[in-house]
Amino acid sequence: MTAPEIIVLEDAAAVAADAVRRFIQVCSRGERVNIAMAGGSTPKAAYHLLGGPHSGDVHWGRTALYFGDERCVPPTDEQSNYRMVKDALLDPLLAKGIKAGHVERMEGELDPDEAASRYAGKVEAVTFDLVMLGMGPDGHTASLFPGAAELAKHGVALATEAPHLGVRRLTLTYDKINAARLVLVTVTGAEKAESLAKAVNGPPGAVPLRDVRPTQGNLVIVCDRQAASRLA
Ligand code: 6PG
Repeated sequence: MTAPEIIVLEDAAAVAADAVRRFIQVCSRGERVNIAMAGGSTPKAAYHLLGGPHSGDVHWGRTALYFGDERCVPPTDEQSNYRMVKDALLDPLLAKGIKAGHVERMEGELDPDEAASRYAGKVEAVTFDLVMLGMGPDGHTASLFPGAAELAKHGVALATEAPHLGVRRLTLTYDKINAARLVLVTVTGAEKAESLAKAVNGPPGAVPLRDVRPTQGNLVIVCDRQAASRLA
């Protein structure tokens, strides 16, 4: 279990550009790659670049896109992570006649426990080459929220609850995330500095992101100066 590699860059634009570079690097291995996409505005900035100026830098037919988490809403809902990835990446690629090799969304429109069970069945045998994550100001990542009972649960995919939001979510478990070859976390903004410091330097359980520590793979956290301001 290696320590996280921390990359501190000037601003959010630089963070998005670096995430794109790493995404392209993972996809340049000349074989099928399995990638779990993150929700959130920080990852979204990278998706826009991948669907736009960098759309030609990935052999999309060799990518299988999954999701690290999802809101319990239909795929057409503006809250849906799938819809966000579709709008930012999949549709712009399609407009250029480009399709991902495979897209497997979490079925947010179903009963959460049923959706989690169905997704677990689909990804149980998948080893992710890349899991993209963001982090909220409270240190949550994917839909692993502070204080949620599911943090301790093992398995592949779970229905959980965002306690402060009072809504159900679907999420990959720590087990599944930590089995990835590379976990790439993008974090920007001063409001995340305290939680990022806990995620990097705190004890296990300090915040949910602290317990993302790939067992065999690598963890890279790319952040801007504001988010890194509390790192030693
Ligand atoms: C979600 C994500 C969540 C997100 C973080 C960061 O569904 O919103 O899974 O974990 O990545 O909250 O979001 P921002 O980048 O928008 O701050």
